[in-house]
Amino acid sequence: MSLFLRALRGEDTPRAPIWIMRQAGRYLSEYRALKAEHGFWTLARTPELATEVTLQPIRRFGMDAAILFSDIMTPLPDMGLSLEFRPGPVLDHPVRTAGDVDRLRVPSEEEVAPFVPDAIRLLRRELGDTPLIGFAGAPLTLATYAVQGSGSKEYELFRGFLRRESATADALLEKFTDLTINYLRAQVAAGAQAVQLFDSWAGIHDLATYQRFGAPAAERVLSALADTGVPRIYIAVGAQHLYPAIARLPLEAVSVDWRMPLSACRNALPGLTLQGNLDPAALLGDEASLTAEATAVLREGLGGPHVFNLGHGIFKETDPDMVARLVDLVRGYDRHAAMATAAGVA
Ligand code: CP3
Repeated sequence: MSLFLRALRGEDTPRAPIWIMRQAGRYLSEYRALKAEHGFWTLARTPELATEVTLQPIRRFGMDAAILFSDIMTPLPDMGLSLEFRPGPVLDHPVRTAGDVDRLRVPSEEEVAPFVPDAIRLLRRELGDTPLIGFAGAPLTLATYAVQGSGSKEYELFRGFLRRESATADALLEKFTDLTINYLRAQVAAGAQAVQLFDSWAGIHDLATYQRFGAPAAERVLSALADTGVPRIYIAVGAQHLYPAIARLPLEAVSVDWRMPLSACRNALPGLTLQGNLDPAALLGDEASLTAEATAVLREGLGGPHVFNLGHGIFKETDPDMVARLVDLVRGYDRHAAMATAAGVA
């Protein structure tokens, strides 16, 4: 079994597998060239192009896992929510009323974004031994964009909506939960070997609001995947205050950001594989600062199963040569030897 899947299953692997969030994207000239020709939506909706973009970072760096090139917003048009990418998602008609929620339809497993399972089947043939991660937005984060209408600093429209229209919010979350279950089950059926649920903006809420709206929806999605046997990764950014609730979700791994060292994350998330948590800004530094920061992450990760990643998506300004250096460094770090040394020193 691949190092990545072994680590997700809880094994203390001899070295940490590495992949990078947004590893296919604008920091790669070969991505920019394809995007200039076709546009983002066409790349995401054409299985051959999505396959090509997914493979770009695998060819360049030999990452230990591939993540399907798509977006958390990709299945929303199938519910009746049209949107554009500029470059972040912008909805034509945000969801604001009970009537808006009533009009949303939940596509079945067979109906939802069929180009995604098609791309997954193509990718599995191309990838050989490199495992493929499927993904979806978590209901709370999908609802954040659906109500706010676009990215935002404070998401105040959405946060007000949760308070003023809580019954409508429940109905909306229920539909997004059913959508996400169908969408992820379709990806697993097509061959995705792990799934990552992106609750990117859950961290903007206090613990009580997250427990009221976000955690039950995420719990229902993750539970609905239990019988598939694929490992489940969950990510919320800036969400250390939510770890008491996240630790109780049915999952195998949590992707954590750089705000707290991995050893402290491990105490808060006992028994789980940790994924992370290099600051994406470390790739904007120089070789010496990158080496120091990445080595610190590797050392912090020694206390249990670890998948090396950034704490959030790679910046488009990143020099791909720095990514190549990072991959080399992680590959060369022998975790078992480092643990023996640490034990000897102690
Ligand atoms: O990781 C990968 O390589 C897979 C591709 C991927 C994309 N979006 C491609 C993309 C993944 C996993 C996503 C998930 C996604 N999309 C999330 C969750 C991850 C996170 O960052 O927390 C979110 C919140 C979105 C919504 C979204 N889509 C935003 C905020 C943006 C703008 C991003 C930016 O960097 O400005 C997008 C557009 C988008 N999705 C791009 C890419 C490569 C940039 C579009 C472009 O090339 O113009």
